[in-house]
Amino acid sequence: MKVLIINGSPRGENSNTMKVTRAFVQGMSESADIEVETVTVKDLKIEPCLGCFCCWSKTPGKCVIKDDVRSVTLKILSSDLVIYSFPLFYYSVPGKLKALIERQLPTVAPFMEGQRDYLVNGGHPPRFTAKHKTILISTCGFYPTDKSYDAIRAQFSMICGEGNFMEIFLGEGELFSRRVTQRRCQARLEAVHDAGVEYGRDGELSEATHEKICSHLYPPTMYAHLADVGWGITMEDFRKSDEETIKEVEALGKKIDLIY
Ligand SMILES: Cc1cc2nc3c(=O)[nH]c(=O)nc-3n(C[C@H](O)[C@H](O)[C@H](O)COP(=O)(O)O)c2cc1C
Repeated sequence: MKVLIINGSPRGENSNTMKVTRAFVQGMSESADIEVETVTVKDLKIEPCLGCFCCWSKTPGKCVIKDDVRSVTLKILSSDLVIYSFPLFYYSVPGKLKALIERQLPTVAPFMEGQRDYLVNGGHPPRFTAKHKTILISTCGFYPTDKSYDAIRAQFSMICGEGNFMEIFLGEGELFSRRVTQRRCQARLEAVHDAGVEYGRDGELSEATHEKICSHLYPPTMYAHLADVGWGITMEDFRKSDEETIKEVEALGKKIDLIY
């Protein structure tokens, strides 16, 4: 089974999320015969889509931009499983990963006549028979992951089809790179590893396993404290920069004040 990991974190190898992804894939490799390749989005040349629709008209199936995207597209088409590994940024995927996703337009067809399902639901039919499973692995800084990932769930439901992807979303993501929380994070990574073994063996995760790996690491008040002290800056120092911003906005003609 060919597994493609698309690492969408701007932190590359140092990504919190990649710690989770690596543990999962390591587990998979112990129960399934897999060949793994990772593409690191931050290191690739990925221009934003020009919106020219040449890939549907003048140069069908091919984007006019010559950068690293085509090679990733070919890897996606030849994979059996694609794992998107990314941090949550403003309730969505990081911009460069979004650009890579938008540049997949050459792999779908523009025609709508006779495509009732796509016409009714919105969306374009895929051009190739190539099929792969999709797993989304993500960490975020907030505590809960139910509402904050709604936009991601909606987006990938349209891209992959409703229910056609598996999600592993973890809050408290920054704790994976803090020294004081390593013991608990390491235990979680071991559970994720075991989940990978299960997925490699069964092709899915039981509800109990999913709940176990996506549950909270700390109680909310303890997490709030750990998260706040982790920034290494006092509230007073933080506010000094707010005063500067207020002055600059006032110079533009609008009076604003501090809320927090
Ligand atoms: C620009 C930016 C936007 C972010 N937006 C969110 C957000 O909307 N919700 C959230 O819970 N965390 C947010 N975070 C926190 C990251 O998701 C979190 O730190 C994550 O663990 C980083 O993972 P990585 O190391 O794999 O990149 C944001 C971080 C940055 C830098």
